[in-house]
Amino acid sequence: MGRATVRLDPAFAVGPVRPRLFGSFVEHMGRCVYTGIYEPSHPDADELGFRTDVAHLVRELGVTVVRYPGGNFVSNYRWEDGVGAKADRPTQLDLAWRSVETNQVGTDDFVDWARSVGVEPMMAVNLGTRGPSEAVELLLYCNGDPGTQWPDRRAQNGHVEPHDVRVWCLGNEMDGPWQMGHKTAGEYARVAEETARAMRRVDRDLELVACGSSSRGMPTFGTWERVVLERCFDLVDHVSAHAYYEPLDGDVDSFLASAEDMNRFIQSVVATADHVAAVRGSDKRIMVSFDEWNVWRQQGFDGESSLAVREAPELIEDVYDVTDAVVVGSLLATLLQHADRVSMACQAQLVNVIAPIMTEPGGASWRQTIYHPFALTARYARGMVLRPAVVCDRVDTAAYGPVDQLVVTATLDDTGEGGADLTVFFANRSRTEPVELTLDVAAAVGAAPGDWTLVEHLALYDDDPTATNTRLEPDRVVPRPGGARTEGDTLTATLPPTSWHCIRLTEAVSR
Ligand code: AHR
Repeated sequence: MGRATVRLDPAFAVGPVRPRLFGSFVEHMGRCVYTGIYEPSHPDADELGFRTDVAHLVRELGVTVVRYPGGNFVSNYRWEDGVGAKADRPTQLDLAWRSVETNQVGTDDFVDWARSVGVEPMMAVNLGTRGPSEAVELLLYCNGDPGTQWPDRRAQNGHVEPHDVRVWCLGNEMDGPWQMGHKTAGEYARVAEETARAMRRVDRDLELVACGSSSRGMPTFGTWERVVLERCFDLVDHVSAHAYYEPLDGDVDSFLASAEDMNRFIQSVVATADHVAAVRGSDKRIMVSFDEWNVWRQQGFDGESSLAVREAPELIEDVYDVTDAVVVGSLLATLLQHADRVSMACQAQLVNVIAPIMTEPGGASWRQTIYHPFALTARYARGMVLRPAVVCDRVDTAAYGPVDQLVVTATLDDTGEGGADLTVFFANRSRTEPVELTLDVAAAVGAAPGDWTLVEHLALYDDDPTATNTRLEPDRVVPRPGGARTEGDTLTATLPPTSWHCIRLTEAVSR
């Protein structure tokens, strides 16, 4: 049994919780769009063809912003194919995933869907096989006022009001050799600069995201960010980071410690961006858009070239277990711990493709294990992110050396009408050792004894860490009461091995 003491002090705050940290990603890939969010023949489809059962789960998940339409897909996408009368839209071969793209969902449809489920659309432009001209035309189509060709086309297509998309990604993973139109850092920096400058001529208040590295392990990592930002520094607001985690060669201990990689990744990108700022004598702070992250067992994926050409194929439909959910919970905690510099984050993806939500064509939809830490964190992380002081045991890992057994983050919200709310999230990443946790509540909130009560302790845990949710057993793994106790000003709880927790306290007296 490990022991842990956690101290929280409102004086040690990272910054406000950024709602955009709870973003997701819809790519035209596999069954994310077709038979995922969109399936006109489904009994629960709405008048636009979108599945209302999926929309319900998306709302419940608490997603705030959704990146679209890719991903690798965007780098050979002709957005014009996806607007106008559906019967007139061409069917194309998507080269990213060797899939038949019917274009029955496109820009207008996605924005309609996003608004209907209450999420902000975040758009990516094709800087692989296309360039500044097509990016500007898409921007004008989306955001322009009527009176010129592209906004007028949008109005003819039934959308008189501009879509008002604020966040735009300048391409996707352009550092990756797998990308259509892959570029060197210098080549990408130049086209990103030209595109950003042109897009800002249309609307200088856009938020623009430059492509960073598609993982911390890329050979160009660090240099890529520096070269891109040296050229685009004044024109962009964010630089992207992407990371997918899996138990490499069965190394589950290192996998459970994946948050270490994300932490070092963010620190390195921030350092590189601030180095570019320093050299320029600038106080501007480029933010990190962690706009693809998740667990993805890529060792089981043979690569794009191996794929047979099909329409809406079952691609990378990973089935997640309890261990995966603990990793996802710890990654969310890490993003929150960097809320001062990570402006946005998108779990990739939303439905069916390495996703928290699964669907059966014509049938059911259900929540994977990883759905639960996301939904609870998105719902209860409110107010200020606190920087916890954690004293706990260490776990040895091959990839990262010894790491803290616990990942902890906390938020304190005193903006409501009643008393303040404190929520603490924990991941126990030991596979063998439970933790006896002690949290000094009075120190955490600076309140008088007895002023705080425990609202709820929810735990995601199973005696079998490989337990999953499936169509036949969709609620095998769900958050259950975790058994935390309070006595005086102290909260204690036993956190089992490979478990994730959300503990909520509230101020019992109105101030
Ligand atoms: O999310 C799946 C793929 O992973 C995306 O298309 C790409 O950007 C990344 O490599």
